Amino acid sequence: MSQKFIMNRFNQEKRRQLYDSQEINKAIVKIAGYINHDYKELNPLLIGVLKGGFVFLADLVRLLDMPLEIDFIQVSSYGRNRESSGRAELILEPQIPVSGRHVLLIEDIVDTGLTTGFAMDYIGKLKPSSAKLCTLIDKPSRRKVEVEIHYCGLEAPDGFLVGYGLDCDEKYRNLPGIYILGG
Ligand code: IMP
Repeated sequence: MSQKFIMNRFNQEKRRQLYDSQEINKAIVKIAGYINHDYKELNPLLIGVLKGGFVFLADLVRLLDMPLEIDFIQVSSYGRNRESSGRAELILEPQIPVSGRHVLLIEDIVDTGLTTGFAMDYIGKLKPSSAKLCTLIDKPSRRKVEVEIHYCGLEAPDGFLVGYGLDCDEKYRNLPGIYILGG
C-alpha cells in the first residue's frame, strides 16, 4: 500500500492513497469468484446503490459469467457534507420487480451502516427470494447499526475516503484509486 501524499491539482486538498487500482482489482476478482460460485444457477438481480457504487458495479459485473440483471436504487443520507445525517430516504426505486428474485445489493462502502441497513430493509420488504449484501469497502470502526456483509473487498480505517466512485461534494469519483482526504 502506497503512503504517497498527493496534492490535488484542482483545489490543493491533501489526500493519501489507501488502495491503488491493482489492489482494488485484486479484491474485485476475489469477490467475483465467490459470486460466480454462489449464484451460478440463480439468475441474480444486482442492485447498485447510487451514486458511489457505480464504478464498483461496472467492474464487478464484467467478471461475472452467469445470466444476471442490473438495476439501481438511490438512498440519500450524507447530503453535501462528510457526516451522516443519521436519516436515510429512498430517492430512486428499482424498476425491475424484486419479488421472487435473488438480489445482491452492491454498495461502495459500509460506514455507520445506516444507509445500507435502510436499503437492505427496503429490499426485504419487496419479498425477494434472497437478499445479500456486497460492499467494496467496510469501515467497521464507524458502525452504528449492525449490518450483515456477505461479500466484502477491502477494509478501511476511520477517515473520509474518495475515489473509485466515492465522492466529497460530488468530486473525486473518477479517481482510479481510493484515497483518505486530509492525509
Ligand atoms: P453509512 O450509512 O454511514 O454506512 O454510509 C453509507 C453511504 O455513505 C455510502 O454508500 C457512501 O455513499 C457514503 N459514505 C460513507 N462513508 C464515506 C466515505 O468515507 N467517503 C465517501 N462517501 C462515504
